[in-house]
Amino acid sequence: MIQFDVNRRRVSVTEADGDMPLLWFLRESLGLTGTKYGCGIGLCGACTVHIDGRAVRACQRPVGTLAGASITTIEGLAGGAGALHPLQRAWMEVDVPQCGYCQSGQIMAAAALLKSVPQPGNGDINTHMTNLCRCGSYSRIRRAIHRAAGQLQSEGEPS
Ligand code: FES
Ligand code: FES
Repeated sequence: MIQFDVNRRRVSVTEADGDMPLLWFLRESLGLTGTKYGCGIGLCGACTVHIDGRAVRACQRPVGTLAGASITTIEGLAGGAGALHPLQRAWMEVDVPQCGYCQSGQIMAAAALLKSVPQPGNGDINTHMTNLCRCGSYSRIRRAIHRAAGQLQSEGEPS
């Protein structure tokens, strides 16, 4: 049995299922469908989650490699009781999404960026945010990241 945490809850998979991509496990076994399937080959970033605080493409990580890991998905980003993460608030205030399909992955990538670079410049954002958006929402994503970074700085909220 392989055990790890998803959104602060302990989960188990059998060794026989060890090759299953984390993306499949999240969506099909746990019903956490906020993490999206896009390309399936590690390129688009629609499936981005955090593994031990780092942004990772869940379609590329077999669950058999996750023993003891701590996974956070978009459903667990805010951390409790209906509160939103500052990035989620900024995403709504800037009205970032168009079709919306890529956006949970974008927010997870942005949350990892703000943890490592709390006040990123456009260069940091361009380098770090490699997720694709077919609708071309990149400029609004940048604006929302700056907005959330400013809010985190002024409010002293945890990211
Ligand atoms: S679905 Fe995982 S990177 Fe595209
Ligand atoms: S908002 Fe449509 S793919 Fe990004």
